Amino acid sequence: VIELRRLVVDDLDALAALERASQPQPWTDEALLVELVHEDAVVTGAFVGGALAAYVALRRLVDECWVLNIATHPQARRKGLAARLLDAAAARGKAWLSSSLWLEVREGNAGARALYERCGLAVVGRRPDYYPPLVDGAPREAAILMTKSL
Ligand SMILES: CC(C)(COP(=O)(O)OP(=O)(O)OC[C@H]1O[C@@H](n2cnc3c(N)ncnc32)[C@H](O)[C@@H]1OP(=O)(O)O)[C@@H](O)C(=O)NCCC(=O)NCCS
Repeated sequence: VIELRRLVVDDLDALAALERASQPQPWTDEALLVELVHEDAVVTGAFVGGALAAYVALRRLVDECWVLNIATHPQARRKGLAARLLDAAAARGKAWLSSSLWLEVREGNAGARALYERCGLAVVGRRPDYYPPLVDGAPREAAILMTKSL
C-alpha cells in the first residue's frame, strides 16, 4: 500500500536520509527544513510499507505553483511514486488556485524529463549554464523549463 501525506518537522531525519540516498547533489538538512516550515510550501511524502520512499517539495509563488524538488529512493523507482506525487502537486496547486505548475530540470536528466512529459508538462524554455556540473571539471549544465496549466 502507498500512503501519501504531508511531511512535518518530525519527518526531517527520514526526509534527509531519502534525499541523500536519491540525489547526486542532495539538498542540505537546513534547505529541507526551510520547506517543511515555510508558509508557502508543502512537502508531500509517499510511504511504502510505512517507510518514506519518495517526496515532492512544492512552493506557491503568486499565481504559480513550483515543484522545487522531487525524488524517489533508488530501490522504489518505476513503481509510479513520482507520478502519484506530481498528481498530488497539481491537485494542491488547484486548491491554491494556481494557474500553472512549473519546474526546472537538468537537460541531461532523461528519466525525470520522461516522467514530466508523461505527466503532461511541456518544455517552454532553456536556461544555459544553470546548474553546476555533476562531476568536477565538466561544463555547467542547462536547465529545461517545463510547465502545465492547472
Ligand atoms: C526522476 C525520479 C523522481 C522518477 O521517480 P519514479 O518514482 O521512479 O518515477 P515513476 O515510477 O512515477 O515514473 C512514471 C513514468 O515516468 C517515466 N520515467 C520515470 N523514470 C524514468 C527513467 N529513469 N527513464 C525513462 N522514463 C522514466 C516513465 O514513463 C514512467 O512510467 P513507466 O515506469 O510505466 O515506464 C527518480 O528517478 C529520481 O528520484 N531521480 C533522482 C532525482 C531526480 O533526478 N529528481 C528530479 C530533479 S528535477
